Amino acid sequence: MKLDKHNDYYDSYERRSAYRYRQNKRRKRARNQFIVIATVCVILAIAVITGICLAVAGSNSASVATPDTAATPPNSTDLTTVPVTTTASPTTTVAPTKPNTEPNESPEVNPTSPLEPIVTADGRTLDPNKPFLALTFDDGPSTEYTEKVLKILQKYNARATFFVVGSRAENNPDILKDIVNAGCQIGNHTMAHSDLTDQSSSAALAAVEDVNDIIYDATGVNCHIVRPPYGSFDDSVCSTLSAYPLILWDVDTNDWRTGRTKSDIVDCVMDNAHTAAVVLMHDIHKVTMDSVEDIVKGLTEKGYQLVTIDEVYALQGIELLGGTVHN
Ligand code: NI
Repeated sequence: MKLDKHNDYYDSYERRSAYRYRQNKRRKRARNQFIVIATVCVILAIAVITGICLAVAGSNSASVATPDTAATPPNSTDLTTVPVTTTASPTTTVAPTKPNTEPNESPEVNPTSPLEPIVTADGRTLDPNKPFLALTFDDGPSTEYTEKVLKILQKYNARATFFVVGSRAENNPDILKDIVNAGCQIGNHTMAHSDLTDQSSSAALAAVEDVNDIIYDATGVNCHIVRPPYGSFDDSVCSTLSAYPLILWDVDTNDWRTGRTKSDIVDCVMDNAHTAAVVLMHDIHKVTMDSVEDIVKGLTEKGYQLVTIDEVYALQGIELLGGTVHN
């Protein structure tokens, strides 16, 4: 009995031990499951938070970059506005725009593409497939010679460009008007014909803009091209005159040199004439004025279209860019 009791007791003890053992085992399993689930949850939470942080950082950097990107178009617009505006001057011709068949095509004219005839503001039709060149006259206007040169040009329905010096131009507004009325173009040759590379930026800019004011007051035309005196320029000049195309030449008659004769000048032009040439002369010398008729007549007989600076580049599909040296 005692033994039975003991056995009973023992049995019940064993059952309780087995129960506790199972309970402990269940608790341990539950705890382990909880730890695993909690660990997974923490990892997922870290992953989600990291993802959100990266997304926020990405959108922040994009919003920082936006102003720079947005600032670019106005700058480029400013640059491109110069030549676009310049082509609207009265002496300027605007090439008929070719139908643009490709929407993504660059707006710049492709010089290799076939160019179409240009109808000028004064009613001329210029053919880019026939010879053409630009005569240019520097250092005037001259009260003695410029009007005579204009008469010869008009006689042959020819055009030229006159790069005037401000100190002469301001006393001769009527000659400036006659240049424009003859369908010719006026260019800027600075106020006092000083080397722009020897001047401060502000002085160089004033040397150009003062002449533009004189030209505008006399003619109502916004002059937009500059020929630096002596053809002298450097990076600083180009930067200072970033609004103005700098126009040089590729045929130099050397008409200013002592002893240069009429036949020297005429032969120089006729021997070196080629399509798109820019010829340098000076309408302040008698020998130059004496040479002009033979030159204009000879070139016209050879089939050359004598055009302005704006036209000579338009015929080539070349856009005149501010701060850039042409020819
Ligand atoms: Ni000069």
